[in-house]
Amino acid sequence: MEATDSAGHGGQDTTEATRTATDGAASGAGAGDQFDFMVVSNRLPVDRCSADEAGCEDGWRRSPGGLVTALAPMMTKTDGAWVGWHGAPDETVKPFSHGGIDLIPVQLSTDDIELFYEGFSNATLWPLYHDVIAPPEFHRTWWDSYRKVNRRFADAVIRHAAEGATVWVQDYQLQLVPKLLREARPDLKIGFFNHIPFPPPEIFAQLPWRRAIIDGLLGADLVGFQRSSDAGNFMRSARRFLGASVKQQQVHVRGADGETTHIARAQAFPISIDVKQISELAQSPEVIERAQQIRRDLGNPKTILLGVDRLDYTKGIRHRLKAYEELLQDGKVTVEDATLIQVASPSRERVEQYRLLREEVEGTVGHINGTFDTMQNTAVRYLHHSYPIEEMVSLYLAADVMLVTALRDGMNLVAKEYVTARTKNDGALVLSEFAGAADQLKQALLMNPHDIDGLKDTIMRAVNMQPAEASRRMRAMRKQILDHDVDLWSSDFLNALAEKVVRDES
Ligand code: F6P
Repeated sequence: MEATDSAGHGGQDTTEATRTATDGAASGAGAGDQFDFMVVSNRLPVDRCSADEAGCEDGWRRSPGGLVTALAPMMTKTDGAWVGWHGAPDETVKPFSHGGIDLIPVQLSTDDIELFYEGFSNATLWPLYHDVIAPPEFHRTWWDSYRKVNRRFADAVIRHAAEGATVWVQDYQLQLVPKLLREARPDLKIGFFNHIPFPPPEIFAQLPWRRAIIDGLLGADLVGFQRSSDAGNFMRSARRFLGASVKQQQVHVRGADGETTHIARAQAFPISIDVKQISELAQSPEVIERAQQIRRDLGNPKTILLGVDRLDYTKGIRHRLKAYEELLQDGKVTVEDATLIQVASPSRERVEQYRLLREEVEGTVGHINGTFDTMQNTAVRYLHHSYPIEEMVSLYLAADVMLVTALRDGMNLVAKEYVTARTKNDGALVLSEFAGAADQLKQALLMNPHDIDGLKDTIMRAVNMQPAEASRRMRAMRKQILDHDVDLWSSDFLNALAEKVVRDES
């Protein structure tokens, strides 16, 4: 699984891989196996692959992202297992293990993918939780599917969790799971982490099933969010829509008889990245050479600007292109001196809003390049691909200016990866104040992407930044991230969960 929106997500479905995976099931968890620590997420942390691909073992390869790196040691130390969808519609895959982690696949049918994943998760909740940048759609059939699939995930945990086990549920696709677990297994310690923003009650109010969602989340002992404003929004919604009593970070949850059943705590735990992996790659001779090659391939421009995003309307790619086009029109940047590389990795391509966005972005890039390109130089180098992490770090090293212009983003790990890769303390980060990362990266050039003139000015400040200022800012940001990597995030969350349950019981 890709932890909270870094851009690369691969995965290849082949008949051969499918066969191997199903056959390989014999080595994994059996139907009766019980685990002390369970992680539950929509996707399992593995992708299908074919035998000739690097890192491919028995038809599977670990997916990129910090979450699995952070949790893998915990999984192997504590007899853990991961529950999630294996990525192939309509296919039953038996439990198996990969890279020392026991994996318990949950099956999704073609209908589940359309109604639960593309529908309720990504065309209702995703836009609703991201400031209604696109209009959310409300369909009762989607909601029914969301309930049914959440029940299926919860059942897999209920079957495999040992007495008193710790269960950590991840993200907005599974918000009903905590309550389903508590009802069936009050012995469990239940944590939930929301990787995306939680909207203010004024927006959340639109959701016809708002009470059921809050109730579902309140089944957890600890509900984690990226920013304290998200935790605040959640607590205000609990008060407003369920009449819950909320004191400081604690929500008193009442049963049908009006008695308090337990206290759920809501708190911010800003997620981070695998700092060691990115730092090591940034110092590897192959990656450094590849970065130089990228610069040479682009004709050694004075400035390379870089955007790296999933092709998602929350990322502000249109705003970024608009600002860049105007800078070219104004003559503030020229194609001889500067190139913008935009990596837009394919995402949720069957959802209407994503299809429209792709058309618009690709039309705009074509228009900009048609207007400003010369035989030698290209204004925007647009790449609609996912890349392995080695190539991403080469791009980070090649780029003088990183543009993160999200209109709303839970965290934005690309910003943290860029900063970590700049081991020489150079380069400039332009960062939207609407990304969670802005809470930690205060020395970035923070801006409001809706303000196109402000965005243009900020891009020019980054392009023209003096080395001493760049170094001062980058040094401070790197210190923040080096001190707060993803291991610390997961251990902070799990320690808070353990402490909370012990305190409640004593
Ligand atoms: O940020 C939320 C998230 O679900 C991430 O966990 C994931 O990497 C990204 O969005 C894309 O998710 P998917 O391809 O599963 O819809």
